[in-house]
Amino acid sequence: MRGGGRGNEAGRANFKYLIVVALGVTFLVAFLHGAVAKSGAPESAGRGTRKEGPRGADTGAFKRVFDAERARASCRTGGPGKHVVFLTGTGGFVGFHTALELQKQGHGVLGLDNFNDYYETSLKRARQGILLEKGIYTVEGDIADGEFVAQLLEACPFTHVLHLAAQAGVRYAAKNPLAYVHSNLLGFVTLLEAVKKMKVMLPVVYASSSSVYGLNTKVPFSEEDRVDHPASLYAATKKSNEMIAHSYHNIYGMSLTGLRFFTVYGPYGRPDMAYFFFTKYILDGTEIQIFQGPNGEEVQRDFTYVDDIVAGVIGSLETAPPSVKGQATYRLFNLGNTHPETVTTLVENLEEILGKEGRKRVVPMPATGDVLATHANVSAAYEAFGYQPKTDLKTGLRRFVDWYREYYGIGGG
Ligand SMILES: NC(=O)c1ccc[n+]([C@@H]2O[C@H](COP(=O)([O-])OP(=O)(O)OC[C@H]3O[C@@H](n4cnc5c(N)ncnc54)[C@H](O)[C@@H]3O)[C@@H](O)[C@H]2O)c1
Repeated sequence: MRGGGRGNEAGRANFKYLIVVALGVTFLVAFLHGAVAKSGAPESAGRGTRKEGPRGADTGAFKRVFDAERARASCRTGGPGKHVVFLTGTGGFVGFHTALELQKQGHGVLGLDNFNDYYETSLKRARQGILLEKGIYTVEGDIADGEFVAQLLEACPFTHVLHLAAQAGVRYAAKNPLAYVHSNLLGFVTLLEAVKKMKVMLPVVYASSSSVYGLNTKVPFSEEDRVDHPASLYAATKKSNEMIAHSYHNIYGMSLTGLRFFTVYGPYGRPDMAYFFFTKYILDGTEIQIFQGPNGEEVQRDFTYVDDIVAGVIGSLETAPPSVKGQATYRLFNLGNTHPETVTTLVENLEEILGKEGRKRVVPMPATGDVLATHANVSAAYEAFGYQPKTDLKTGLRRFVDWYREYYGIGGG
């Protein structure tokens, strides 16, 4: 049996539950879209445009900060045959690294980010500043601001849309569930609608997540497995993205590629992730909680270094077929490391690199939507674009810790 190995009855119950959730989410999306559409006034996307727009779902006002000249310069490529990429989420961890690598390879990039305060905005602004120094411009705006997104899509001769902006994180849903609905559902559909209305629909590559495997127990996780048991609202929205993508592929012939990232880590990473705050805790002596499953199992993650992920993202972009009805492809790829490690191993590595022992306590895993283990089968990505993760955990953590010490001005090492 595929998937979580549950009985038929439980499967049927879960299926019914999923339908109810899907209907609820659809209703919310429709409701929010209506609310946004009513209050969104047209505006030109000219130089220095700044707009305080309608409130999104708990994400603050839509801001629009756009400089057309900077955008044009940012989209310039290194020569013929290079891509021009509309890249959402460049204020974020993976978007930042992807933008840098795209530019290094001679591609043009225009970024978009709303710089929300899910985690320290200073880090997002620092990434934005580094990109700008290299001539990569990040427009400030929201992916759920359809009119603005449509204008931006006309700002450059784009060849691809790379959509990495999202409300990430599993546990934050307990605090702010509508942020997931806003960015991951309303934002996703809004972006696809804008692409759909283009004269030539661009191929879209978007970030899904290993969390879609939810409560599945068969490892390694394969794109062939059924993914019907999300363990968190975040996972449910990422799985919804894949289903929504399929519908746009089916109806409009849009080329859509979903990338299931497995626990990405590295320099300029996300402060809400364990490797990041464990580093802080080891250094400042705060207790580290190591989660354990109900039968004493260790939590394991297929930690994937950001450079490996970026190579996979660009590989999938390079191989994305054009959006042509009847020809467009619907693709899904795991991008992981294929070597799951326990959280204890993660902490031991950090302790060794930092030269300091942490204060640790093993506690039962709280019911906040985390799963016990992730493990990627990446053979589909290998076949399609030669994806082969190269960075082992210790090497990647060393690079992260070097960056961490420098960025936060902490000596030693
Ligand atoms: N990092 C991981 O381990 C991991 C794992 C699986 C999937 N992903 C997915 O990969 C993508 C990138 O993740 P990341 O780690 O770089 O996260 P991140 O939070 O650092 O980056 C996401 C960026 O998107 C922006 N954003 C959010 N909502 C937006 C909106 N409505 N409009 C415009 N911008 C918005 C945020 O401000 C942020 O800068 C996300 O889609 C995430 O769900 C990440």
